[in-house]
Amino acid sequence: MSAPDTARLADLDLERIPTHVACVMDGNGRWATRQGLKRTDGHAAGEEALFDAVEGALEAGIKWLTVYAFSTENWKRPTDEVRFLMKFNESLLVRRRDELHERGVRMRFVGRRDWRVPKRLLRRMDESIELTENNKVMTLTIAFNYGGRAEIVDAVREIVAEGTAANKITEKTIAKHLYDPEMPEPDLMVRTSGEFRISNFLLWELAYSELVFTDVLWPDFRREHLFAAVQEFQDRERRFGDIGGD
Ligand code: IPE
Ligand code: IPE
Ligand code: MG
Repeated sequence: MSAPDTARLADLDLERIPTHVACVMDGNGRWATRQGLKRTDGHAAGEEALFDAVEGALEAGIKWLTVYAFSTENWKRPTDEVRFLMKFNESLLVRRRDELHERGVRMRFVGRRDWRVPKRLLRRMDESIELTENNKVMTLTIAFNYGGRAEIVDAVREIVAEGTAANKITEKTIAKHLYDPEMPEPDLMVRTSGEFRISNFLLWELAYSELVFTDVLWPDFRREHLFAAVQEFQDRERRFGDIGGD
């Protein structure tokens, strides 16, 4: 947060763009409350932020963008808000998937497809995946009804169900049973709204990601904020447990 909040694409080293950026899109409720609006208006306003971030990611050449849209803990919220989020995400997919498709974006989803997620929404997700499955420019993964712990539990369940011997289970075995085994680990995780926590996002995958936190509330987030986060990432030295060097 000491670094400037915004940057231009020209400020970035295009040779060192992170392959995978993950975002916790947080602060919609506070953004709305501060303007005397309903919390759900904040979620609606978050759509523009998301699509500007997608544009920015495309401009910067980021290959994987993953966004946290609904957590396994968000069911605790008031019924009206949960209902709004289900409908809103469904309508967002219907309204925006063609545009993403035209931009060469492949859409994927990670999270539990349990009974609480409306069937219609699951259908829209499947349609979006199918429509965009051959796109190559960028993969946009939406984490929906996603929890990092649930993902690890689901992986372990599959591994046990396959009858794998305990001494054959390695980190690779777990990684291969995550929701999207093709998804590379995020290089950079950005969280908006000034909260310094992970909130059960990509627990396994974030092991060595660089974390950037910004005070900007998600509905105010624009590509310039994404570029600033990438710039901060480029100033960091990743060591992966080694001793580093020049
Ligand atoms: C993030 O914004 C969106 C979701 C969790 C669905 P919040 O709704 O958490 O906004 P704040 O944190 O209450 O401001
Ligand atoms: C994380 O934000 C989940 C999403 C952005 C979807 P929360 O607002 O749910 O996280 P906490 O409750 O502040 O940790
Ligand atoms: Mg929040």
